[in-house]
Amino acid sequence: MTKKTEYVIEVEKLTKRYGDLPAVNDISFNVRKGEVFALLGPNGAGKTTTVEIIDTIRTPTSGKVRLLGMDVTKKKRDIVPRIGVLPQGFSSFDRITVRETMQYYSRLFCCRNADIDRLIALVNLNDKAKEQYMNLSGGLKQRLGIAIALVNDPEVVFLDEPTTGLDPRARREVWEVLLGLKQAGKTVFLTTHYMEEAELLADTVAIISKGKIIAMDSPVQLIESNADYLVLTLQSIDEKAFDVVGKMGFAPELSNHKSLNVKVTGTDDIRKILNAMEDAGVSLLSMDVRKPNLEQVFLKLTGEALHEGASGGKGAK
Ligand SMILES: Nc1ncnc2c1ncn2[C@@H]1O[C@H](COP(=O)(O)OP(=O)(O)OP(=O)(O)O)[C@@H](O)[C@H]1O
Ligand SMILES: [Mg+2]
Repeated sequence: MTKKTEYVIEVEKLTKRYGDLPAVNDISFNVRKGEVFALLGPNGAGKTTTVEIIDTIRTPTSGKVRLLGMDVTKKKRDIVPRIGVLPQGFSSFDRITVRETMQYYSRLFCCRNADIDRLIALVNLNDKAKEQYMNLSGGLKQRLGIAIALVNDPEVVFLDEPTTGLDPRARREVWEVLLGLKQAGKTVFLTTHYMEEAELLADTVAIISKGKIIAMDSPVQLIESNADYLVLTLQSIDEKAFDVVGKMGFAPELSNHKSLNVKVTGTDDIRKILNAMEDAGVSLLSMDVRKPNLEQVFLKLTGEALHEGASGGKGAK
């Protein structure tokens, strides 16, 4: 007999209106125990509204939300001690050190016996334990925020955009911490703009746009089921390359470093393009063929980019 799946979060027909705006519009999904679930979407998609309804901060307009088997609108007192939350744009007291901050929050959240040193080590802040909050970089502040979210040894951790605004290196360092949580078997509910983050960390990704979930699956499956093309990248110093591909009826896009990206359907197309290049005397510096990534899946499904600067999009809100 197969074991019944244990859902830690159950969301059924959830809607939240702010006046006339349906910020979250009739969404349903479940999150399994021990999985990392990512809500991926651009600015204003409804991510924070959804998270903050699940973690009992906001109230829904309609629909049912159960967390750890309890109705979030009725059992806040029982739920809160069992969850951890890193709110979007977290900040703390400027002149208090990392260690003191952890002591403060552990007392506030009822856990005098929290193993603060272990948590500081878990987020790699040992060297900064005596540093004041205001002297921490953005990435270090976010890591402290994650440690605070873990102070009550929660069963479910909610992280609302833990890496937004961080540089790529700081983002990677936060990912290391999140991978540690995943390996420790915590259930993590994450929101993000970043498809690499969802691809790397999440077992399940729900793509949200304008309050609707438009696709939901594992990252690999999302790409597989939406990838009806390949991206061929050609690098050449010869400016003729673009015209050669364009004249063949493909729609090449110029990217930086003299590269052009071409959507192709298979190896036949690739062969034809390479032959045409050779016939035109265009020499190539490099060639690369990839499946679309989640960013491109998102673009295809919504026509919107996930965040400003994402390739090919119209830009977020
Ligand atoms: N308290 C509020 N009152 C009125 N409108 C709100 C409120 N909170 C959010 N909204 C609106 O609801 C929509 C969804 O907002 P939400 O903050 O949930 O999006 P988000 O996906 O978290 O965006 P971001 O990536 O910018 O954090 C937006 O149009 C926003 O302006
Ligand atoms: Mg938000």
